[in-house]
Amino acid sequence: MSAIIERTDALNGVLNIPGDKSFTHRALILGALSSGDTRISHFPHSQDCNDTIECLNHLGISIEKEQDEVIIHGRGLHGLTEPGLTLSVGNSTTTIRLLSGVLASQDFVSEISGDNSILRRPMDGIISPLKQMGANISSKLNNNCPPLVILPSQIKGITYKSDIASSQVKSSVLFTALFGDNPTAFIEPYQSRNHTELLLSAFGANLDCAGNQVVIQPAERLYPIDVTIPGDISSAAYFITAALITKNSEIRLCEIGMNPTRNGFLDVIREMGADIEIINEKQGLEPTADLIVRSSKLHGITLSGEIIPRTLDEIPILMVLACYAEGITFIKDGGELKLKESDRLDITIDNLKKMGANIEKANDSIVIEGGHPLHGAIIGTKYDHRIAMSFAIAALGASGKTEIIGSECVNVSYPGFYEALRGLCPASRA
Ligand code: S3P
Repeated sequence: MSAIIERTDALNGVLNIPGDKSFTHRALILGALSSGDTRISHFPHSQDCNDTIECLNHLGISIEKEQDEVIIHGRGLHGLTEPGLTLSVGNSTTTIRLLSGVLASQDFVSEISGDNSILRRPMDGIISPLKQMGANISSKLNNNCPPLVILPSQIKGITYKSDIASSQVKSSVLFTALFGDNPTAFIEPYQSRNHTELLLSAFGANLDCAGNQVVIQPAERLYPIDVTIPGDISSAAYFITAALITKNSEIRLCEIGMNPTRNGFLDVIREMGADIEIINEKQGLEPTADLIVRSSKLHGITLSGEIIPRTLDEIPILMVLACYAEGITFIKDGGELKLKESDRLDITIDNLKKMGANIEKANDSIVIEGGHPLHGAIIGTKYDHRIAMSFAIAALGASGKTEIIGSECVNVSYPGFYEALRGLCPASRA
């Protein structure tokens, strides 16, 4: 399928963004491991989260879904059962990395795999620490990629110093550590998103967090919770950008997650000069707020270091935004993006060049000179949801028509994305 998007002059209206995908995966998995019923509200019906549910179903967990509410009938830390087939995570790396942490400590054999993009995603980031913890986990084809084969083993507590700030690696280790003989310490170079730590604590696990270090005790039992998922800041980023780059726009996005380890995007756009107001702030398990965003005159900035893990998934849309800002934007330290659902650096650069942007790459650094008018083009997405959404937004400020090939891949994180966009700018057709 493809979507055709045209220039629009104004976006207006109020939007409820679906629940945070990253947070939801963790709530589902911990709900399954807790003893009793966990209720999740504002559940996002994205393909990735549905794939986590399906994996948990194959592990013996029953889950009821009703509109945007999900009830997980948890069976306790030792209640999962042998799946009897290869678990499939579809397109979701978060599912394979986090669930492998749980499977590593079960007393049954499991195999876990996914779609073609998953088959090329490196897993050494989790295989290495889990092996140090005594897990028997390996890449079936010996290429560091899925399928992963996991055999029963005795888990021990370790101290692990990670070279990269990755919440997927941290979460996988913390989940395995629940089943260890001793505490586990995880240290990372910068603090990656901390949804796992907040949720583990809410489910009754015993952990101490200080800056880039987490120490977790083995657990005997987790306790079910009721939780409302905050609006996904990564999904909100597309609409925020759309309002910033189009003339005469003002939109309100409701109950967006404001976890500071996650919303580096907001810091970046403020530094670029964005007119964004934060109102209706609430403190739940994670803070939320409504965001009012208006058309803005932006300027280029330099992005590097600790901000990168806090805005990693938003870098493609930030590259789009930089094309609409005056002056130069530099993005450094984004090498991790090459290993996402697609090579997000190269594919974003190629597509922006097709649209007439002035953008260059030197090693893994990107230089974008904003202010050059963009024009419509045919956009290849490699079936990567974040690329499709980024270019649907780029098209709103470009002359002519833009065609997004494989546009339905947005369902991985945001079913209803094009309808939501159309609702704010009736002029765009998708
Ligand atoms: C995620 C962590 C990030 C992010 C991914 C989701 C998570 O990956 O890019 O989309 O839910 O933990 P890394 O942990 O590899 O940085």
